[in-house]
Amino acid sequence: MTISLVILAAGMGSRMNSDLPKVLHPLGGAPLLAHAMHAAQALDPERVVVVTGYGAEAVAKAARAQNPEVLIAHQADQNGTAHAVAQAREALAGVRGDVIVLYGDTPFVQTETLAAMLAARADHAVVVLGFDAADPGRYGRLVMAGDTLERIVEFNDATADERAITLCNSGVICADAQELFQLVDAVGADNAAGEFYLTDIVAIARQKALSVGVVRCTEAETLGINTRAELAAAEAAFQARARAEAFEDGVTLIAPETIHFALDTVIGRDTVVGPNVVFGPGVTIESGARIRAFCHLEGCHVSRGAEVGPFARLRPGAELAENVHIGNFVEIKNAILDQGAKVNHLSYIGDADIGEATNIGAGTITCNYDGVFKHRTTIGARAFIGSDTMLIAPVRIGDDAMTGSGSVISVDVPDGALALERSAQQTKPGLALRLMKRLRALKARQQEET
Ligand code: UD1
Ligand code: CA
Repeated sequence: MTISLVILAAGMGSRMNSDLPKVLHPLGGAPLLAHAMHAAQALDPERVVVVTGYGAEAVAKAARAQNPEVLIAHQADQNGTAHAVAQAREALAGVRGDVIVLYGDTPFVQTETLAAMLAARADHAVVVLGFDAADPGRYGRLVMAGDTLERIVEFNDATADERAITLCNSGVICADAQELFQLVDAVGADNAAGEFYLTDIVAIARQKALSVGVVRCTEAETLGINTRAELAAAEAAFQARARAEAFEDGVTLIAPETIHFALDTVIGRDTVVGPNVVFGPGVTIESGARIRAFCHLEGCHVSRGAEVGPFARLRPGAELAENVHIGNFVEIKNAILDQGAKVNHLSYIGDADIGEATNIGAGTITCNYDGVFKHRTTIGARAFIGSDTMLIAPVRIGDDAMTGSGSVISVDVPDGALALERSAQQTKPGLALRLMKRLRALKARQQEET
């Protein structure tokens, strides 16, 4: 059975008080919108449609970054959730099977819950995801008759009795694609807000004697984000869940409450992560690696047995092969380090290839940027780069080659060669003592004068 998704993301989110559309505010290093898309992607959907409105271009771009095959439907005016779904009609033309409607600002819906809704479609024409709210606030209320959902009433339109209902609408709805658009067509705007409510399709379905069922989830799962305070609380909830998942995956976290994950962080078994480590987007770490305290990683891959930090920064395109060592105050960007390579102290390695078992001395810098272009540095296997070498890219250092400490290397070094670029040392016997004596005498005279 094929499944398609419609993700509603046209709203401005005025309570965020922001120029940025609400669904683009980051949670776990990814835009809010990416979370709903991520949960739904696991269902292997036939088509995914994101409905954009406020900040449409930026929202579409973020959606494509998450899933290049996403279809974008534009809702010029935000006339309500049913009107938003109607905009997806063209993108879903000819599609068979079920459609799940999700909100872009509801990041915690689980794939398993969506699967339960699809399973419930065996018994019902329409399935709504509901939850028991501790404080039902302004949520839509689910009016049940036994196991059948009769209608959803929005808070503004609800009677006192209806407001006393605690079973609430999460907003997630599932139905057959063609059926959904027929139901949406029948929705009017005769309500307190004058909007086309998607929730009205429930009563319309019941009038057609179609069965409507409810799948329940926890309130935490349907948490929607409307304010910055809610975003901060959601970030805490996201991080707590990510840490719990890391433990289940066999990862040791030291001071877990100080370690921050992104939506797509992947860490292998028996890897140990020290305190205050931040994983930005796009990080994968294999088994048995060690990430010591105070590292920042983004868009990088760390292989089995590698050690990173403390105080290291891995930027996008950093690729560490097995048993690579990256030490303190080292920055790696867009560079591939082959097995057992070591960069242990105070270095910048950018736009580079570093061969197997090569040692990069303290303070080495790849001078990769000429102010306009970036250039590559290539270093062979088993090379030894002396401390404080400046490598002026583009430059190539051969296998088994060496550079002398303090050298500025701008010409390629062949395999097995030693390159040295520094002036001959001059040593003046006794000059240090004489110089200091003169300076101290000068200072003493100045103090006498004042
Ligand atoms: C909606 C539900 C309510 C439910 C609540 C759960 C309706 C009528 N009400 O209310 O029953 O309890 O969510 O959070 O559906 N959107 C568009 N285009 C529009 C309007 C909304 O894309 O024209 C998007 C918004 O960007 C948002 C989502 O739909 O992602 C929900 O809209 P919102 O206005 O927040 O609905 P609620 O009033 O919260
Ligand atoms: Ca809302």
